[in-house]
Amino acid sequence: MAKWIKLSNRGCDNLLLLVVVLLVVSSHGVLSLQDKKCDSDYCLGCESSVPCVDATRLAKDVRKLPDEGELSGPSLDQPHRIAFLFISGGPVPFETLWRRFFALQNKNRYSLYVYVGSSDYTFPSDSLFFNSEVRSHSAPGNVGLAFRWTLAVALLDQNRRNTWFVNVCGASVPLRSFNQTYDYLTSSRHSFVQSFSPIRGFRFWDTQPQFDQSEIRKGEIWMALRRKHATIIVKDRETFIKFASNAREPEHVFEDEYLQTLLNLRDPSGITNRTVMFADYSNTGVLPRVFHTGDSYNMQQFLHEMVTMTVDTTYGLQHLIAVDNRPVPCELNGNPGVVCFLFGRVFHENSLPMLIGLQIPNI
Ligand SMILES: *[C@@H]1O[C@H](CO)[C@@H](O)[C@H](O)[C@H]1NC(C)=O
Ligand SMILES: *[C@@H]1O[C@H](CO)[C@@H](O)[C@H](O)[C@H]1NC(C)=O
Repeated sequence: MAKWIKLSNRGCDNLLLLVVVLLVVSSHGVLSLQDKKCDSDYCLGCESSVPCVDATRLAKDVRKLPDEGELSGPSLDQPHRIAFLFISGGPVPFETLWRRFFALQNKNRYSLYVYVGSSDYTFPSDSLFFNSEVRSHSAPGNVGLAFRWTLAVALLDQNRRNTWFVNVCGASVPLRSFNQTYDYLTSSRHSFVQSFSPIRGFRFWDTQPQFDQSEIRKGEIWMALRRKHATIIVKDRETFIKFASNAREPEHVFEDEYLQTLLNLRDPSGITNRTVMFADYSNTGVLPRVFHTGDSYNMQQFLHEMVTMTVDTTYGLQHLIAVDNRPVPCELNGNPGVVCFLFGRVFHENSLPMLIGLQIPNI
């Protein structure tokens, strides 16, 4: 019998685990994070030495976002801008590769945000990530909440009119050039969200009246979202409260289920049901493989397969926990034959010199 497994975080949330969870659902039913020290507006890269996010203000501004995710003001003919959200909890281990990825790119085509939790970590002034820290003094302790928080900051960022939002694991690397990544994402009519029906019955969870048990979906938290879907996520209260209040681990894993179920409820045909973030579950079937420098396999060969794959055979743990576990041909706007992955994980920090040598990302 398959165990109920947490898919998402191996190697990605080490630092987040250190952070204390102070999530409360306030009397208004809105996500709020107790935050005594910080009473200024949310800000990012602002003058203050410690940019900080005020939860009450953030929640209020989020409610004003238009539902369909339109940008206010002149947006016609504006090029897409992709927000890369690094949920690392601190330094980004593969900064060298990301620096190569973003080198010489037009800064109007991307934005960077690094969720550093409640730590006072600051990137040095020569870092790619200088001034892109997103903090919350009493920080969400799981990747799902940290992502949602950072997403809200990126959506509300008036200086950078972001249209796409990519959740990047700290232990992941870019596989393709910026232009290839940019064109792939921004040409898609769908958001890239892995979502499948899990086999497990939820006998002890009364999901009514909010939704039917058959609507529950599972998948990886590493997703790439259009503005419309990012807006659905940060504005949602009903489904969030349902999950936060009475879906309990270990049967449920918040970051593997909440957003996947929410988007399935609100716009099932708007998501691809597959992720663009490669992970290899073939070895253990339980946790994704961690790529180390010292491993015996041929890294070059492996990267080649990862980069050229056009049928998603990984599909999370689907052979164990999904109702339908067939390999899926990767499509873009309904056209098959496209490569599946733009990013890969889980890489151990010691693989950096090797990845640099192998010209990853493939530029
Ligand atoms: C990437 O795309 C931009 C905009 O289309 C173009 O100006 C630039 O030359 C491209 N860069 C590379 C390395 O192809
Ligand atoms: C994703 O799966 C849902 C069912 O869970 C389906 O309704 C939807 O059409 C699928 N999306 C695409 C793009 O095929």
